[in-house]
Amino acid sequence: MRIQRRRLLQGAGLLAGLLPLRATSALAKSGEEFQFEDWRQLRNEFEQDPAWSNFAGFLLASRPRMVEEDIERHRVALNRNAPEYLSEVYRLEREGRARAAEYLGVEPSQISMTGNTTMGLATLYNQIRIRPGQEVLSTEHEHYSCRMSLRYRSARERIRVYTIRLYDEPRQASTDEILGRIREHVTAKTRVLALSWVHSGSSLKLPAAEVGKLVAELNRERDADDRILYCLDGVHAFGVENTSFDELGCDFLVAGTHKWMFGPSGTGIMCSRDPGLKNVSPTIPPFNTGGEEGFGAAMTPGGFHTFEHRAAVRKAFEFHLRIGKQRVQDRIHALNDRLKNQLEALDGVELVTPLGSDFSAGFTFFRVPERSPEEVQKILRDHQILVSPADRDVGPVVRMAPGLLNSEEEIDATVEVLRKIV
Ligand SMILES: Cc1ncc(COP(=O)(O)O)c(C=O)c1O
Repeated sequence: MRIQRRRLLQGAGLLAGLLPLRATSALAKSGEEFQFEDWRQLRNEFEQDPAWSNFAGFLLASRPRMVEEDIERHRVALNRNAPEYLSEVYRLEREGRARAAEYLGVEPSQISMTGNTTMGLATLYNQIRIRPGQEVLSTEHEHYSCRMSLRYRSARERIRVYTIRLYDEPRQASTDEILGRIREHVTAKTRVLALSWVHSGSSLKLPAAEVGKLVAELNRERDADDRILYCLDGVHAFGVENTSFDELGCDFLVAGTHKWMFGPSGTGIMCSRDPGLKNVSPTIPPFNTGGEEGFGAAMTPGGFHTFEHRAAVRKAFEFHLRIGKQRVQDRIHALNDRLKNQLEALDGVELVTPLGSDFSAGFTFFRVPERSPEEVQKILRDHQILVSPADRDVGPVVRMAPGLLNSEEEIDATVEVLRKIV
């Protein structure tokens, strides 16, 4: 089907515009930092439909040409001779773990590859070591994937999961309040602290490193088996924030790589402070240990799967590293600042996300009091602008996520549409 379509397009002379023929060398030679002044040059590395202003890339991202080309290379090779090519995709999977480690400033033995955030959270929370009588502390801000993973574990082993709120209104949240609420609810029985770095139902970015410091302080007097294990769903900060794993001070970080990281769909990672298996055990048998015994290899689920995607994840990390983590963060924060400042100044719009970047990463959420988020979504969609409504946590809200593929002009044009309807 795909080949037929390609032949057809070739025949029509349309191929050049639709297929990734040009290499990423438009920005730099292989391996070098990307050189570009204008973010539109980076945007040109993506096939994302330019007719649309897509502010919902945080759901499932478009992929840069260098990732797409890599996927295609593996797809073709696997299709031609899978038995011969398997060792190559396994080698590239290990290389992908190494690139993720470089991105987070850790060792490859601390990184495992997963299929998405949900798989990472499920394998972590279903096997993290919790002794009878110990408890989990989590929050109402967590995504369904976290809440359900904890619920399954709790139902199976009668483990108590305490669920609290860390703040009431995102714009009133403070580090003192968040740390205070955690401190107030941690008990001697608390074994797991299950949090998210950026809350996709409220947009708030947690002061994750400050939480890490608090957990370290609380752990000081505890025995190894009673230590609080600080676990973070990092999916909406991963590919946005320029923070190393050690700075976070967490025990486990879980993230999909098919959102802000621009990786192939169905990919993600887990990172563990301990390169061994002291605090978690595997669920899905690994196929590609290469003699390794620790966390990274053992927690990378085996079985045959979408090898062409997993082998290409390394290119997504390379893409981000070649732009530069600080540059990525600055750009995403600047775009969100621009949107937030304009929405704040717009009568009839209620900005939900805190101004500035202390408590905000790549999300800008708002409400139009007289209209439902779905209605706002439809109006914007009629102008070829994509946003995502949500009704959980502090919802109902309209969710926008200005990212590297968006421009100042798109933000300004969106605000102009909103101006006309409020
Ligand atoms: C905070 C959070 N965690 C997890 C997920 C699920 O991500 P995935 O599709 O990678 O499993 C989402 C979905 O967007 C999310 O917002």
